[in-house]
Amino acid sequence: MDIKNKLTEIIIKNASEKTLTEEFVQGLISVPPEEKLGDFSLPCFRLAKGRKPVEVAEELKNSIAASEDADFFSEIKVVGPYLNFYLNRSKISGTVVAEILKDRENYGRLKEGEGKKIIVEYSSPNIAKPFHIGHLCSTAIGNSLSRIYDFLGYDVVRINHIGDWGTQFGKLISAYKRWGNRETVEKDPINELLKIYVKFHAEAKEHPELEDEARRNFKLLEEGDSEVTALWKFFVEVSLKEFNRMYKLLGISFDSYAGESFYSDKMPEIVAILREKSLLEESDGAQVVRFEDPNMPPCIILKSDGSTIYATRDIAAALYRKRHYDFYKNIYVVGTPQALHFKQVFGVLKKMGYEWADDCVHVGFGYVRFPDRVLSTRNGDVVLLEDVINESVAKTKEIIIENGTAGQIENLDEAANIIGIGAVLFEFQKNGRERDIVFELSKMLDFEGESGPYVQYSYARGRSVLRKANELGIDYKNANLKLLTEDQEYQLVKILQKMSQQVLDSASKNEPYIVTRYAIEICKAFNKFYNSTNVLKSEPDVRAARLALIDATTSCIKETLNLIGVGVVEKM
Ligand code: ARG
Repeated sequence: MDIKNKLTEIIIKNASEKTLTEEFVQGLISVPPEEKLGDFSLPCFRLAKGRKPVEVAEELKNSIAASEDADFFSEIKVVGPYLNFYLNRSKISGTVVAEILKDRENYGRLKEGEGKKIIVEYSSPNIAKPFHIGHLCSTAIGNSLSRIYDFLGYDVVRINHIGDWGTQFGKLISAYKRWGNRETVEKDPINELLKIYVKFHAEAKEHPELEDEARRNFKLLEEGDSEVTALWKFFVEVSLKEFNRMYKLLGISFDSYAGESFYSDKMPEIVAILREKSLLEESDGAQVVRFEDPNMPPCIILKSDGSTIYATRDIAAALYRKRHYDFYKNIYVVGTPQALHFKQVFGVLKKMGYEWADDCVHVGFGYVRFPDRVLSTRNGDVVLLEDVINESVAKTKEIIIENGTAGQIENLDEAANIIGIGAVLFEFQKNGRERDIVFELSKMLDFEGESGPYVQYSYARGRSVLRKANELGIDYKNANLKLLTEDQEYQLVKILQKMSQQVLDSASKNEPYIVTRYAIEICKAFNKFYNSTNVLKSEPDVRAARLALIDATTSCIKETLNLIGVGVVEKM
């Protein structure tokens, strides 16, 4: 049950004004600043339509009190032109907790997306290049959005648009032919390939003819020459193996790895359509599409040597996705520095006459900064995902050992992995995605701060009480949930019932942080409740109800963490 929705429904049913819409009433309802003023408040000015608001408030109150929904409230007070609603705590707690315990990990799931396909493109690292922290950002946010849309009933297609095509592969092939060694590359693919690629650039400065050779190699690749194609395939294979190791660690999966190369044979059609619609213009030998907006630079489609670029491949990819998946929304989770690129791509699609260009959405995110960086950066300025994860997991293990709880954890390494990785993912999704992320290991792993471990710890705390109850043979299956009326209990219940609303809100803004913050909100209310009573020592009826509340809460914590790709541990 969503109590605000329910209240809205009751108001509409009982108001004398018969034209009220759900949206209008939802917009009027507010939560008073203080608990003693009620759970919700409704200003009646805009309902009055020429009558006195206080009169309208009085009338609505009486109408609700006489209706079948009267027992939803313990009291309704008219305060001047306002109606203050005090909900029936027993009823709310009883309904909400029972619903959670029945639906478990499916609690709050909706069907609003049924029959609609949403593409979430995320991660999209480049072959033979490091998987850096920006890719992790995309991976974390994209994974969460996939889960969030799935929760809302959408049919989600997860695509990893691998960067596996482009002139750089001509260079890499030249470099490999000169300095490459299969065994060394197989041992440490990304670093080794990066090394010879960097060397190529240094050498090409003194021997510009290398550039021509590289161009010839890419041309050969485009033409499907067997030798260079075999090399390219090798680079793709060894890089993907590395990336997949990372995905496995993070618990991430995809439905499709169709990267840039997948569209290499689909570009002539794009060029033909653009030509046919007279959208291509020449500019310094290149073929471009211009925009009316003077602030939008033209989008290059063909370079002067006739080769296509990144943007052309994205245009081909979008058209392919529309035809193949008939998406309702096509979401790209890519850093904000590429905002202009996507504006151009969507702009060209629109000019081609595709109205669905408006269903393509760029979901950007800011930079990651490392003020207290002690992380090693083996590759110049790039911070590698793997270094960050390793550091976080190692530190987590240290903290657990220091806390003295290591002895009771069955598999310490496994727990440290879940907590350490969860901490990183959590941190990346704690604030609005457009904001820069300030990445501080100490804060991220603070068990008492607003961190992943804090939420996981709250979960483990709850689970430990349930275990203890079980050991003592206490059964709470048939608990009288209506007993959950004390302030701390009721506050917690009120937060738990917001699950669907929070996920909807998060999806409408493509902002996973709303779910992350919700997880923190649940834990704060839970710890307040937990610290205010000794659950196991309460009187048996109350004890059973409180245990049921703990069970429901831990279930919701697990569910929210799961939505942002973070796992839980039973003990920590
Ligand atoms: N591979 C690109 C990079 O690492 C990101 C690709 C983003 N997706 C897209 N459809 N252009 O910067």
